[in-house]
Amino acid sequence: MSEARKILVTSALPYANGSIHLGHMLEYIQTDMWVRYQKLRGNTCTYVCADDAHGSAIMLRAEKEGITPEQLIANVQTEHMTDFADFLVDFDNFHSTHAEENRELSTAIYLKLRDNGHIATRSVTQYFDPEKGMFLADRFIKGTCPKCAAEDQYGDNCEKCGATYEPTELKNPRSAISGATPVLKDSKHFFFKLPDFEAMLKEWTRSGALQESVANKIAEWLDGGLQEWDISRDAPYFGFEIPDEPGKYFYVWLDAPVGYMASFKNLCARRPELDFDEYWKKDSTAELYHFIGKDIINFHALFWPAMLEGAGFRKPTALNVHGYLTVNGQKMSKSRGTFVKARTYLDHLNPEYLRYYYASKLGRGVDDLDLNLEDFVQKVNSDLVGKVVNIASRCAGFIHKGNAGVLVSTDIEPELRASFSEALPSIADAYEKRDFARAMREVMHLADLANAWIADKAPWALNKAEGKQAEVQAICALGINLFRQLIILLKPVLPNLAKAAEDFLNVAPLSWTDLDTQLANHQLNPFTPLMTRIEPAKVEAMVEASKEDLAATAEASQDSAPGGNGELVKEPLAETIDFNTFAAVDLRIALIEKCEFVEGADKLLRLTLDIGDAKRNVFSGIKSAYPDPSKLEGRLTLYVANLAARKMKFGVSEGMVLAAGPGGEEIYLLSPDSGAKPGQRVH
Ligand code: MSP
Ligand code: ZN
Repeated sequence: MSEARKILVTSALPYANGSIHLGHMLEYIQTDMWVRYQKLRGNTCTYVCADDAHGSAIMLRAEKEGITPEQLIANVQTEHMTDFADFLVDFDNFHSTHAEENRELSTAIYLKLRDNGHIATRSVTQYFDPEKGMFLADRFIKGTCPKCAAEDQYGDNCEKCGATYEPTELKNPRSAISGATPVLKDSKHFFFKLPDFEAMLKEWTRSGALQESVANKIAEWLDGGLQEWDISRDAPYFGFEIPDEPGKYFYVWLDAPVGYMASFKNLCARRPELDFDEYWKKDSTAELYHFIGKDIINFHALFWPAMLEGAGFRKPTALNVHGYLTVNGQKMSKSRGTFVKARTYLDHLNPEYLRYYYASKLGRGVDDLDLNLEDFVQKVNSDLVGKVVNIASRCAGFIHKGNAGVLVSTDIEPELRASFSEALPSIADAYEKRDFARAMREVMHLADLANAWIADKAPWALNKAEGKQAEVQAICALGINLFRQLIILLKPVLPNLAKAAEDFLNVAPLSWTDLDTQLANHQLNPFTPLMTRIEPAKVEAMVEASKEDLAATAEASQDSAPGGNGELVKEPLAETIDFNTFAAVDLRIALIEKCEFVEGADKLLRLTLDIGDAKRNVFSGIKSAYPDPSKLEGRLTLYVANLAARKMKFGVSEGMVLAAGPGGEEIYLLSPDSGAKPGQRVH
């Protein structure tokens, strides 16, 4: 047997100023599944994480809540840790970046970099809030867009016209914190000389440490030339003060990745078998993996390896970068109820449903992953309940009734058993490469084989025949053994199901090597349902509850919105899409020929649209804003012509008309200028 590997694994450190949502969970669940797989294989694998506790956002939020930043981060850390534990994410350690180990390590790394000549200083001119007495990050400055004159835009880009600019270009700038007019002020800043590491980074990023698409992205940045990185912020700031520089603090992203080391160091103090230096020294043979989302690649693939190199530590073995979560094909949305907090999910559904669904869709790439709620219900019910658990429930009864719960020894069906053992290397390989989707596909294929075989043998029919008891027992004993194999294969994804199955099987915790053996002449425990089906109503309730969350937060943020009340609560702008994606939407001018109430529907109106060469039937949830539907008749509007038809309770809705506004009475149907003709394409 090859020697056990020593592996240190991290997930990105969640910000300590907000709740964990299902997007975050995509990362923590996949990391946890990979770590559990490594442990199941007998490797020494350690999984550490922490809250990312520093920065001005946290300082300002604490101030708003009237508590100290220390109190805020302690509260949030408790919440985060409970959420993770309830999603069965099993960290070896969950620490905080605001911790003594991190102060020491960050300071030591900075001093090494400084003493090796990798730190520069120069004066930077920035907006300063004279009332608040602090420098303003771009997102804390608002003003009028220099390009399109839209009001109330942020310091670095305009949400209206998409322009990007320097905060000093904004017209009528004001502080989003106090409302005061900011003044320009100079201050000494500290820079990490990233260009010193260009050669190393060119090599490291092509060394197999990065997925190909990530390496290509980095190559673009490297070719564009590296810039020095501003790593200091002026007081007041919640963070660590820079040594020998009173009033200057490390920028949060300087000490955040060091938090990986600090969390591990904190764990080493409790686990004598773990040696900090063995994992972090320059020529370490231990493996180091960071799981991160695609939005924070630059910090992990450029700054972090350069910091490690410059301070004399090892670099990561690899970064495992994943894409973003979408829900029902769209960015998570508070108004649609698809921005689901971890806790809201847990209030309604079993965490293993989501773990399995993510596993079934997670490949090795950085593509976004869609949580389609209908598909979620269907897949979990059909695979886990209908296929896996079903094998045990089909067989257990006969063993309990016919043989007092004792599994007989069986050596029937060598071919079926061989298909299981032959599949193992490929499933192991898929897990190792983080191709969870392939692992799940191959496991479900085995479950299909087992179910088909049991259906073919039909022990329920044999059981009624004379003298077939031994055969029934042999079939069911093999069935239970195949089930046991599937459970081992799924254990990294479904630890609770595995635990329940181990209880039923009456065995010690299963590990990968147990795949080589069979249970024979063995007493089972009584069978209780191991997993129940997802009820779609629970999913709907979760979505509804997520909308309520929004109502609460919208009220709260209106109360304390900068610049007084009455401001609109903005939905953040969606991520950039390329032109082809936009062009894929077939937008048309439509004439509302007929508009009527729908019997039994509170919110819907039925529209008959003339789109030039065809008529379309569309249901639209705009009744609250248009109590007299006949007023819409004869009006032109914008229509999405190629949206998949949707079957609703009242009929099929073919496409969608476009409207703006938060809902209720405030819904504004869009219309073209006069002269537009039904059927014309919108560009
Ligand atoms: N604090 C930084 C990370 C510092 S690591 C030294 C941060 N925090 S975060 O809370 O915004 O995000 C934590 C992780 O969750 C990141 O890897 C991020 O990419 C991931 N995700 C956050 N939202 C996500 C989705 N909607 N979908 C998938 N992953 C997402 O960044
Ligand atoms: Zn603009």
